[in-house]
Amino acid sequence: MATVKENLLRATELAESDSPRLDLEVLLCHLLGKSRAWLYTWPEHSLDESQQTEFDALVARRIAGEPVAHLTGSREFWSLPLKVNRSTLIPRPDTEVLVETVLSLCPQTEASVLDLGTGTGAIALALASEKKHWQITAVDTMPAAVALAEENRKLLGFHNVEILQSDWFSALADQRFDVIVSNPPYIDTQDPHLREGDVRFEPLSALVADEQGLADIRKIAADARGFLSQNGMLAVEHGWEQGKAVRKVFAEHGYTEVETRLDYAGRERITLGRYHNALP
Ligand SMILES: C[S@@+](CC[C@H](N)C(=O)[O-])C[C@H]1O[C@@H](n2cnc3c(N)ncnc32)[C@H](O)[C@@H]1O
Repeated sequence: MATVKENLLRATELAESDSPRLDLEVLLCHLLGKSRAWLYTWPEHSLDESQQTEFDALVARRIAGEPVAHLTGSREFWSLPLKVNRSTLIPRPDTEVLVETVLSLCPQTEASVLDLGTGTGAIALALASEKKHWQITAVDTMPAAVALAEENRKLLGFHNVEILQSDWFSALADQRFDVIVSNPPYIDTQDPHLREGDVRFEPLSALVADEQGLADIRKIAADARGFLSQNGMLAVEHGWEQGKAVRKVFAEHGYTEVETRLDYAGRERITLGRYHNALP
């Protein structure tokens, strides 16, 4: 049987991956139930026959393009271990900028927050991990995503997050939120990137929207006005080429203090604004 070190030298087999060595390490850690430090401490450890067969199968699936997160069933977001599956998006590091933005602009100890299209629960659970007294509602339209987010909520033990099935605001009658946050589907249906990398294995329900990817953002910007508290904040993630269009959508719907924040690569990815509604 091959040793840990020999198995980690198989990077050339994962030619299409951007991070072949890391993929092998993560898959081997998952299989052996060990840390990456352990792999480096015990490079001469030999896998037994069934472990080697299982590892070969994982490598073959990775060569076929399956995301590492689907092979391990988990992905870390905001340092929280989240379960993932094919029902929704694998959380991306870029979305942590949305979490950071909300936290930096909302220092208050108590707030009511809505996460639209919660998927794994990533944004809602990250906010809950930082703000024990925020009341957070998280919705998704896909029942399997709702079940996944609820599983993650339970595993992390957060009691200030309620997860509901809802087509955007449909299940939220008469509620007001200080902050509404969303990473909605925003990829154009014709975008060629849909045929590349991890997104091939993620559901279109989490990825694409009509109107050059802007249909869901338009719907959210329009309807959020009826669910925001006075001077409440709406913050959405969008594609790096959509900043100008999203600012226009926000302005057209009467949001003020509209601005766009950059992701870690310096691209326009988060737009936010406040709404002064005419509450009685
Ligand atoms: C881009 S994913 C974001 C998932 C998660 N918030 C994250 O950042 O990793 C968009 C999510 O929106 C959900 N979604 C799509 N249409 C929806 C709708 N009409 N109402 C509620 N959720 C919706 C999808 O099921 C998916 O989970």
